[in-house]
Amino acid sequence: MKIKALKLLTLVCLLIACALPVLFLSGRASSEPDPSLAGIGLGSLETFNTNYKAWEAEYLKKGGDQNMVLAMGWFKGLSTGNSYASGLAKFNLVEGNVSVAINGLSKDEGWDVWLVDSAAGRSISLESDDNMWRLGSLKHEGKVATLIASPGKDVFKTFDMDLVIVTKAGKNPIEDRTLIGTTSLFHRVYRSGQRGQFGVLADADPARTEPDKRGFFQRMIDTISPTASAQIGPVPNATTPLQQSIARGRLSFFNETFNGNGRTCGTCHRENGNLTIDAEFIDDLPPNDPLFVAEFVPALANNFENPVLMRKFGLILENADGFDNPASNFVMRGVPHTLALLQNTLTPVGPVPGATPNPDGSIPSQDGTTTPPNERTGWGGDGAPGTGTLREFIIGAIVQHYPKTLNRQAPGDFRMPTTGELDDLEAFQKSLGRRADLNLAAMQPKFKNEVVKKGVEIFNNGGSVLGGSDAGAGKCFFCHLNAGGSDFFFPGQNANFNTNVEGLPAQPADLVPGQLNPQDGGFGRNGISPTGGFGNGSFNTPVLVEAADTGPFFHNNSIETIEGAVDFYNSTAFNTSPGFGALIGGIKLEATEVVAVAALLRVINVLENERSARDLIDRIKIATSQAQAKELADLAVAEIDDAIEVLEGGGLHRPAQKDFAKARGNAQKAGSLANASQRITEANKALANLTTAKDDIIDP
Ligand code: HEC
Ligand code: HEC
Repeated sequence: MKIKALKLLTLVCLLIACALPVLFLSGRASSEPDPSLAGIGLGSLETFNTNYKAWEAEYLKKGGDQNMVLAMGWFKGLSTGNSYASGLAKFNLVEGNVSVAINGLSKDEGWDVWLVDSAAGRSISLESDDNMWRLGSLKHEGKVATLIASPGKDVFKTFDMDLVIVTKAGKNPIEDRTLIGTTSLFHRVYRSGQRGQFGVLADADPARTEPDKRGFFQRMIDTISPTASAQIGPVPNATTPLQQSIARGRLSFFNETFNGNGRTCGTCHRENGNLTIDAEFIDDLPPNDPLFVAEFVPALANNFENPVLMRKFGLILENADGFDNPASNFVMRGVPHTLALLQNTLTPVGPVPGATPNPDGSIPSQDGTTTPPNERTGWGGDGAPGTGTLREFIIGAIVQHYPKTLNRQAPGDFRMPTTGELDDLEAFQKSLGRRADLNLAAMQPKFKNEVVKKGVEIFNNGGSVLGGSDAGAGKCFFCHLNAGGSDFFFPGQNANFNTNVEGLPAQPADLVPGQLNPQDGGFGRNGISPTGGFGNGSFNTPVLVEAADTGPFFHNNSIETIEGAVDFYNSTAFNTSPGFGALIGGIKLEATEVVAVAALLRVINVLENERSARDLIDRIKIATSQAQAKELADLAVAEIDDAIEVLEGGGLHRPAQKDFAKARGNAQKAGSLANASQRITEANKALANLTTAKDDIIDP
């Protein structure tokens, strides 16, 4: 793993260690496209950088390395046994202190805490060549089991922690893994910069990073060190380490089956379908597409998917509350897109001040959920196993969707990802879509369509809650601030609400005879929701900018059109919902007002299509091969098609539709040309037509 140049490099890097993450992620100053950005598809380095910076600011605010907090929990697929206990492991990496506090562990048994530095290139499942270190034993004080240790500041200079594990006393993590906590990619990016010990945390799989054979963190240093880059030599398509990571993550997302049933993340999250899938897309798939494994793999014929509801409505079976009783314990959910996984759509609402922990050890949050889960993923906001982070969601998805049999054991039914693969997949997902939330109020006067302007007014009208009148008050921004996933009452945080979508009568999937479609209790797996199903009944607020072209809507795909989704807020179901519906004085919109809000949602989606298409076409201009240009052109065409369809569906901006159609033609042609300079000419025409289309919608 270690190479000679690294020592020298470490010296250089020590000097600038503190500035590294900033330097490394500061992005390009010029507006010229960077050649190396071709080849990461819908991924974008800028998006990754923005996400990282938001994370870093938050991390520093909370104390940085003096207060690195890892959530501990039961981790689907990696934990042994099935524990509801959870807690926190807090590290002061500067002073070398650790404190662990876990709720919900049996007092009748002893428990040890281990730190693990996974061997590079190995599955995150524990193996004998992983560096495992027993930190000490937990001691019960009342309900809480705690351990305080001061291993000293030097320890964390050489020991690059990947996992914290609670085992039964006397067992090592290969034998027992009751609770697990993991670091995140951003933690690791940050810490590598802080310490100057870059080689140590080299967890990328050498076989996957040929020819340079270096770990992810070693390669990352090369971003700021031209000498080191020169040693790697050019890697096609993505020349800086981070771009390589995003590019590898993309390959993995769309191609890696993890030795499972043949599915990949891209089976359901299609790159040319906004990273989601709907019934229309499913109609065009061949019968042997791995999406349909339940139809042709006998071991998956029962209790794995519901092929009827999948084909009719694009619904996927999720054992959201665990794999016990799979015949009845499941819910049917639509596939959300994975765009704009911005920090504020992952961050849970903060704790109830002074609240005592729940019996399972979790901390009550102000929106009625708990932490952990530590990040809000999936429709319930509790999608990820274990500590509930986007990183762990990858493992949850493999265990849920990839198995060869319902035993769901690795190895055999699938394999676990390596730490490097988790890094890469996380990097790709954090690089997708929008970089920031909109500012709807600032955009309002610039919109050219009066109906859209009205839409903003209704969307941002708080009615009687803010002392005004309820007439024409959409109150949408209370929960979807600036059409994102964060909240007016909990800014920067992604709240859960029970809006009672489950309470709608005549949901399409309920009308199909003979198909079991259990009530979905949303967040959590404890208790019965007031609106039915296991959980507290709340769902996580989704982002809306990307909504109009990713229908059907809501967690159960119950509404087909965006107008219908806005009209949901007029329903008795919403206005009597135990969540916020009644609290905010209800919502009552006239038919024209519903259309105005929907027009707004259509137009902001189209502007995002335009931004994304522009980004892709910019990269056609610097593509290094026609194959690459074609790939980018196809993705741009998919975005432009969406823009046209979304405008057409609302009878909006006919001139823009025509210009989008021209841009589509240009993009398609650019992708078909072997000659690079002809490609550039055609791409420029596409960009010009995109500009004209955009000008029809909004003033610059
Ligand atoms: C068989 C279809 C299928 C496959 C394969 C699949 N997903 Fe998903 N994905 C879904 C569904 C359904 C949901 C909603 C889950 C929920 O609400 O709990 C989802 C949700 C997500 C989310 C949450 C998005 C958000 O906005 O909160 C992420 C992230 C995600 N998937 C990533 C992945 C990754 C990474 C893989 C591959 C390792 C993958 N998915 C494989 C169907 C799939
Ligand atoms: C009390 C909080 C709250 C308010 C107010 C609210 N929403 Fe929502 N919205 C949610 C939640 C939570 C979901 C997810 C519900 C589900 O899937 O069960 C959601 C989902 C949606 C969706 C579906 C998105 C998708 O991708 O499927 C749309 C569209 C939407 N809301 C639009 C609006 C509009 C327009 C308004 C104002 C008229 C509004 N919302 C007001 C909380 C709210």
